[in-house]
Amino acid sequence: MGLLQNRVAVVTGGGRGIGRAVALLMARHGARVLVNDTGTGLDGDGVDRSPADQVVQEIQAAGGVAAPSYHSVSSVEGGEKIVQDALNHFHTVDILVAAAGILRDRTVFDTTEEDWNALVGVHLKGTFSVVRAAARAMRGKAYGRIVTFTSAAGLYGTFGQAAYGAVKDGVAGFARVVARDLGRFGITVNCVAPRAETRMTASVPDDIMRQRQEVLGVPQPTPTSDGYPPEAVAHLVAFLCTDTAGDINGQLFYVAGGVVSLLSHPAVTRTVRKPSGGRWSVEELAVAFPLTLGVGLANPAPPRESP
Ligand SMILES: NC(=O)c1ccc[n+]([C@@H]2O[C@H](COP(=O)([O-])OP(=O)(O)OC[C@H]3O[C@@H](n4cnc5c(N)ncnc54)[C@H](O)[C@@H]3O)[C@@H](O)[C@H]2O)c1
Repeated sequence: MGLLQNRVAVVTGGGRGIGRAVALLMARHGARVLVNDTGTGLDGDGVDRSPADQVVQEIQAAGGVAAPSYHSVSSVEGGEKIVQDALNHFHTVDILVAAAGILRDRTVFDTTEEDWNALVGVHLKGTFSVVRAAARAMRGKAYGRIVTFTSAAGLYGTFGQAAYGAVKDGVAGFARVVARDLGRFGITVNCVAPRAETRMTASVPDDIMRQRQEVLGVPQPTPTSDGYPPEAVAHLVAFLCTDTAGDINGQLFYVAGGVVSLLSHPAVTRTVRKPSGGRWSVEELAVAFPLTLGVGLANPAPPRESP
């Protein structure tokens, strides 16, 4: 019997990449899967039903149970319709994997309002829209598993990804908070920072990818014999959605090929404290900072060109 036997899973972005790998794996483990995908281009433009349809067909051809859903996660109404699709087909929702995503890599100089709104819409609002709808469906039965997707781009900071990094860090913060809201209802919420070879990473030039990887504090990833397949991410996601993962809540993971890491939440590194209710003046900070908080601090992007 599969580890997800008879569970109902909603997978947004389930038509391609990581979401597709999650949908196929969960179906193999006995889940009935709602494969949600608008089939957009990488930058969020256009719609195409075929990615969701193809994954549904693959699941059915392998003897599994699946149905497609084409609504966009980018509106609250869309999130509600996606969950309603799952209720219409399968009468309940046990698992939500919110993997829908788009990419528009730009520095802050070049980020347009439209870029900003598109990225906020799919990643941040889009995660909220499906999580809220799914959590409402899960609350009554005191069971649920939710996995959201962040990125090293936001958690660690990579150059040239102003809006993408911001929204992905926002997703991690959202998961951290919502885990505390939902845990008492038997619903877990965890967040995964993946590295996987999908069309998203294929769009990033190799030298940029290498430079970003070098400055990241993430563990050196270990490729599997076939590189960094989305399937490696899917196994961690599926595990977090099993019954046995019921006490894993509010956690942040990094997964890439053969590496799975538990990441820390932001923590205090050093503190300077004034005795007896005083406060630090700018003059005092100018003297004290280099000797205390500033010891060993490095500028991640030191100036190198005159303006
Ligand atoms: N691949 C990586 O290395 C990597 C790294 C960090 C974070 N991530 C995150 O992982 C998640 C999956 O990424 P991927 O690499 O599989 O990308 P992908 O482009 O292969 O797949 C994303 C899917 O989401 C769908 N989608 C886009 N907008 C949608 C919307 N509004 N509603 C419903 N579906 C929509 C797309 O049509 C696409 O099929 C994303 O959230 C991404 O930001 C991926």
